[in-house]
Amino acid sequence: MADAEFLKEINKRRTFAIISHPDAGKTTITEKVLLYGRAIQRAGTVKGRGANGSFAKSDWMQMEKDRGISVTTSVMQFPYNDCLINLLDTPGHEDFSEDTYRVLTAVDSCLMVIDAAKGVEERTRKLMEVTRLRDTPILTFMNKMDRETRDPLELMDEVEKELSIVCAPITFPIGCGKSFKGVYHIYRDETYLYKSGQGDIIQEVVTVKGLDNPELDAAVGEDLASILRDNIELVKAGSAEFDEEAFLKGELTPVFFGTALGNFGVDHMLNGLTAWAPAPLARNAESRQVEPTEENLSGFVFKIQANMDPKHRDRIAFVRLVSGKYEKGMKLHHVRIGKDVNISDAVTFMAGDREQAEEAYAGDIIGLHNHGTIQIGDTFTKGEDLKFTGIPNFAPELFKRIRLKDPLKQKALLKGLVQLSEEGAVQVFRPLINNDLIVGAVGVLQFDVVVSRLKNEYNVEAVYEPVNVTTARWIESDDPAALEEIQRKVPQNVALDGGDNLTYIAPNMVNLNLTMERYPKIKFNTTREH
Ligand code: G4P
Repeated sequence: MADAEFLKEINKRRTFAIISHPDAGKTTITEKVLLYGRAIQRAGTVKGRGANGSFAKSDWMQMEKDRGISVTTSVMQFPYNDCLINLLDTPGHEDFSEDTYRVLTAVDSCLMVIDAAKGVEERTRKLMEVTRLRDTPILTFMNKMDRETRDPLELMDEVEKELSIVCAPITFPIGCGKSFKGVYHIYRDETYLYKSGQGDIIQEVVTVKGLDNPELDAAVGEDLASILRDNIELVKAGSAEFDEEAFLKGELTPVFFGTALGNFGVDHMLNGLTAWAPAPLARNAESRQVEPTEENLSGFVFKIQANMDPKHRDRIAFVRLVSGKYEKGMKLHHVRIGKDVNISDAVTFMAGDREQAEEAYAGDIIGLHNHGTIQIGDTFTKGEDLKFTGIPNFAPELFKRIRLKDPLKQKALLKGLVQLSEEGAVQVFRPLINNDLIVGAVGVLQFDVVVSRLKNEYNVEAVYEPVNVTTARWIESDDPAALEEIQRKVPQNVALDGGDNLTYIAPNMVNLNLTMERYPKIKFNTTREH
């Protein structure tokens, strides 16, 4: 039987990530969240935005500085309310990559940040699709209320229609832009008044109790108070009520309004996260379901971060702990290669001015030093032969043909590309019909990373050329004749990926759709399990 302390540690964990379109405010909200977690003293220190030093204290940060690895904000752990929160970074701008998708397979809930002036944007749509694979619970923050925004009811309507998730407003905004006055909390029947110019600190917020309170009119003006009352009437008649069960199934999202820059409303969202978001969830392995409260440690690798400094070839494998407890110096079983490894120096992630933690629990992330033996999707246990599922490859969206400068190094190039694909840095496809090597990625930066790593780690100089491929699907079928036919009829569009899996590579969506119609017995998959 697991002891009470152990259960308490696991139940207080909340592991989440932020999904948003670039510029919606992910970085800003991360700063404010860390401010509430007391992980930073003043907002404005994430991603080197005028660092005041209070964020970079652990050994790990020093190692980063020495070795030039940039993972400072890969995982941020901090306490809030009675919980211990793990916030996993989802690379978003130029650094957007397949890792961004895979991080979402390692969390138990997500915060969707939407720019309230813009509404649902393309990247958010894509990331939401990924969260559907596990029906991840989603909280929503409508950001930038201090700007001229769209109508809040219309925004929620758009989320419901475009993302197929029911919106349950928890707070509701009063005005926007220069006349943004605060939010009304529908369930507490309280209005919190916004004061601008206090974005870097945790503000003392004035509260007005009750919607019909004349103090509300005095505080926000009669016009806005009256609009608020009308809106709340509409919400109560037309919007869904918060339902925790539907939230946990990923069917309904609690919606909060505020401004990350003005640091207003972020704490309402955090209170929702700690109250409703799930503690570490059970996970499926091929043989059985693994409960977080099992005493034996288990976990899976969802991301490998390479060191771009050629002097240091080590990489860090990020392991999401599924069950049990990690302690420094522990021996772990690396299931795929069947070996026990001593983990003397795993990296743990405590944001802020704290000692590096010596232990970690289910729900936490640890970083293992890796010299090339660890792959995405690998499982670590205390000895059991478990293999976790649900950490897939995602169909690339960008393709280039890669060509050697020195043609004699074809073998080294292939070896390098296959290894990099096992690490999840990129995907590689070899058409059946020729000797082309096609590199597939989700984000543009992945291409540069691959060329630079091929040079540094495999001594291969390669360049890219355009290729007429825009999308890929892994193909499988119970009918071998169908697979044989597609390979015979359109060999130019069938390729093997880094793990020798059959893939259909299409010049455009029209071609893909026609081919799917033509081969009804073949499944065309957008993800592939490792
Ligand atoms: P991202 O990580 O999602 O890409 O977004 P980020 O937080 O970097 O925010 C993008 C821009 O939007 C930044 O402005 C940021 O200051 C601004 N922003 C974020 N939240 C709010 C908000 O609640 N209200 C307003 N008015 N602006 C907000 P920038 O000028 O591009 O960058 P910076 O120079 O301010 O850093």
